[in-house]
Amino acid sequence: MLKFYGNAARILKNPLPFHHENFEKLGDTFRLKIGLGSSVVFSRDAGFAQYVLQKNQKNYTKSPIQTEEVAKYLGKGLLTSEGEHWRRQRKLIQPAFHKKQLIQLLDSMDAAIKAELNKIETDSQIDIFPTFNDLAFQTVVKSLFSSAVGQKEIDRLQYITEAAQQMLVRELRQPYLGWWFSLTGIVKKHTDLTDEARAILQDLVEKRKQSGIRENDLLDMLLDARYDDGTAMDNKQLIDEILILFTAGHETTSNALTFIAQLLARHPDAQDKVAEEADKANKLNLSLFEKI
Ligand code: HEM
Repeated sequence: MLKFYGNAARILKNPLPFHHENFEKLGDTFRLKIGLGSSVVFSRDAGFAQYVLQKNQKNYTKSPIQTEEVAKYLGKGLLTSEGEHWRRQRKLIQPAFHKKQLIQLLDSMDAAIKAELNKIETDSQIDIFPTFNDLAFQTVVKSLFSSAVGQKEIDRLQYITEAAQQMLVRELRQPYLGWWFSLTGIVKKHTDLTDEARAILQDLVEKRKQSGIRENDLLDMLLDARYDDGTAMDNKQLIDEILILFTAGHETTSNALTFIAQLLARHPDAQDKVAEEADKANKLNLSLFEKI
């Protein structure tokens, strides 16, 4: 515990060197005490993650960080819920993420990715994270709403998603300041922002329902989804799930892409292999589309 609080300023500035040192000293999985009776397990062991999240997931519950802290901004969707509510939502939404359904989103995703990659200036040094960040957000937005959403709304939704996420990170890195964040109204400012995002999404959902147009995007799939009793999600639940897809699919993907780019830059052999594999996949895709 002393270790965590003794390093608080360092962790706040950049937690990665602190975690890296711990991994080097303590091994690929270790426990850090952060308060009386509470601790966090850190792991960079893929087998451990698979054991907890997949093989033995029944024995693990989500942390209050998800079910309370994240939920206060994003509501009660897949990522933030547990038990019967989670099971019901998962059964409802899972089919929308089946390969056959996702194939229908490929064109929108492809266009979103190409548009972002085209913005990269070659022959100059750039920070790749903002590009991958926009790329990940645009891909999620276009998968959900195809082209039925204006740039102004996209920018506002991205601003709000990122602001809420940064606030969460502050709350997690400085749990001892929770009272201060509440007292000064910073938490309220962010819940107000997520309410504004809900209003934008509500408008988009209503417009889609009234238009009678089928876009075959993720929104259509979520609107089509039915519980066992034949009913659909109500608007509030639908909007919670959309907000969660924005958040869960955004920074995770941009962080992963950024680290991948850094690793590939350092390992040209691996870079060649990836390029070769991408070329092959491209050719396969072409022949698949030609057949269709
Ligand atoms: C490299 C990128 C990603 C990483 C590293 C990642 C990581 C994770 C992890 C570790 C969990 C489990 C959390 C837990 O149960 O405690 C999770 C859940 C989830 N992720 Fe991702 N994710 C990524 C991309 C995405 C994308 C692109 C989406 C959607 C657009 C997404 C949506 C979700 C949802 C909805 C859940 C909750 C699932 C449930 O509880 O049933 N994620 N993710």
